[in-house]
This record gives sequence, structure tokens and C-alpha cells, in this order.
Amino acid sequence: METQNLSFGLSSTLPTSPIQNQKNPFFQILLKPPSSSNILTLKGVFLKPHVSFSPKSFPSKEFFQCRNCLQRIEREAITVPDSGVSKELRKKKLAVFVSGGGSNFRSIYEATLEGTVHGEVAVLVTNKKDCGGAKYAREQGIPVIVFPKAKNSSEGLSEEDLVGSLRAYNIDFILLAGYLKLIPTELVQAFPRSIFNIHPSLLPSFGGKGYYGIKVHKAVIASGARYSGPTIHYVDEHYDTGRILAQGVVPVLANDTAETLAARVLQEEHKLYVEVAAALCEERIVWREDGVPLIQSKEDPNHYK
Ligand code: GRF
Repeated sequence: METQNLSFGLSSTLPTSPIQNQKNPFFQILLKPPSSSNILTLKGVFLKPHVSFSPKSFPSKEFFQCRNCLQRIEREAITVPDSGVSKELRKKKLAVFVSGGGSNFRSIYEATLEGTVHGEVAVLVTNKKDCGGAKYAREQGIPVIVFPKAKNSSEGLSEEDLVGSLRAYNIDFILLAGYLKLIPTELVQAFPRSIFNIHPSLLPSFGGKGYYGIKVHKAVIASGARYSGPTIHYVDEHYDTGRILAQGVVPVLANDTAETLAARVLQEEHKLYVEVAAALCEERIVWREDGVPLIQSKEDPNHYK
């Protein structure tokens, strides 16, 4: 979606919010399209119950329209003190869920250390306490939670305790990175629009129950598809059905094996998950009126993809 396709402005149907009636000159409402200094005020339109705003910032809704598809897009505008100084974004707390080697977890974690992702991996959750991802987390001093409880083991949290624990860590976003268990309804409901998964195919193809690991790539090659790549999507109570947020594309080569294709897709996964994590932490997700989430470009705030 290119810059020229978007027009901005307050919708006439937008209800007047108390904030718009604010007489206090200390506040200014950002109604303009995002530009350099006010990018930092953008936020996904649905407030999560556990997200709090500082007393000097309040959310209101902005609507704008895509000229091509005529869809309305909503986002939150946050009032900020009229000081001319950009609001500092709070560092987001991330929980990463893994079941295996955790290469996606590592690349996200490294990006938080480098500052490419304005967040902190506060906790790692795994159903396999000795997997590569969990070992690496312990080496890095990241707390590890086992979930769910394994058979014949006393270790592991219940669904309720997991929710309580993630809340205690003040988790903003949950990133599934090769976590093979279905996410329980309790967790989906406790963290609305805050849980993401990466899947190694271009959903909605080659997804759903039974499509995991190397099986996905075998199916892609057998289908004759010429392109594959990772999808990052919101998580609901089912396998791979939540709203698609981002995709990356790689070619499927004539002589590919499932393993060579998997390696090419995995490289793309590392890149894509870091980009998405960065966008989440910088509050650059907006929602088109039909419920499709879009990522606002950092370099060009008038560009969405
Ligand atoms: C990735 O291919 C991801 O798409 C899938 O599980 C794999 C995890 O790999 N959900 P890693 O553990 O991050 O290396």
C-alpha cells in the first residue's frame, strides 16, 4: 500500500471524545498523518486492559481511508503535552514461547540487546525444559517457565498460573517461536491481540493441525508451489488461523529438498520476526476497517504493508 493511496483526516462519524473538548492548552491532539516527531504517538487501535498510559497521554481514535480499496483504517491518537518533545516510548516486555532450538528466539533476543527491537525478553516459556531455546535462555539469565505440565512431572504451570505469571512480568506481547502446543483459550482471552506466531509457509496454505516442521516444506515442494516463506499471524484458539500480520517470500528452487527449503525460509523468518517485533514495540500496527492489521513503515510513515 503506497503513500499516495492513503488519505488522512478525522471521520465525520467519529464521536466527539472528551479529550477533543479538552480546554487545557497543555494538551494537543494529533490529527495529522504521522510525521517524524509524532510517529511515536501511534498505537494499535484496541487498547489492551493491561496497557496503561501516563497521566499526560490519552487515547482517541483517528480514521483514514485507502483511496484504492475505500477501506477505513483506524488507529489511536494519543494526546501529548504540547512541548514539541517526542514522547518516549516505553520499552515493551516480551514473552517468547519455544519448543525447540530457538533460533528465532535468539535473533529476537539479540535484536533487543542491539536496540533494533525496543523491548526486553522478560521470560521464556517452553513445554520442553531442556530444549535448545530454554538452555540458551538460562545461559542469558532469562527466567524460564515450563508450560504446560509434562506427564509424570511435577514441574510446569497450570493455565491460570501461567496467565498470573505473565501478568506479574507485565508482559505486553507473547511471541510464539516454534512452540508446538496449542495456546489455551484462557491465555488468548487474557492477552487479546497480543499473541503472535510464526509459521514457515505462506498461510493460509500449508497451515493447520499436522503442518509443522519439515512436513510443511515437504508439502510445499510436493505441491509444485514456486514460492514459500514465513507468515506471522495473530494467535487465536486454533492452529494458524489468526489474522495475518506479515509475510516474507522466498523462491522454491527446482532442486530443493525439504531441508534446503526449510533453511532458506528460516533465514527469512529471522528477518521477518525481528521486523515485526520492532513494529510491535514501536506501536506501528494499525487496523484496516475490515479487520486486517497493517504495519506502518518506520522509514516512510505514510506507507503500510
Ligand atoms: C520455525 O520454522 C517456525 O516457523 C516454526 O518452528 C520453527 C522454529 O524454529 N513455527 P526455531 O526453534 O526458532 O529455530
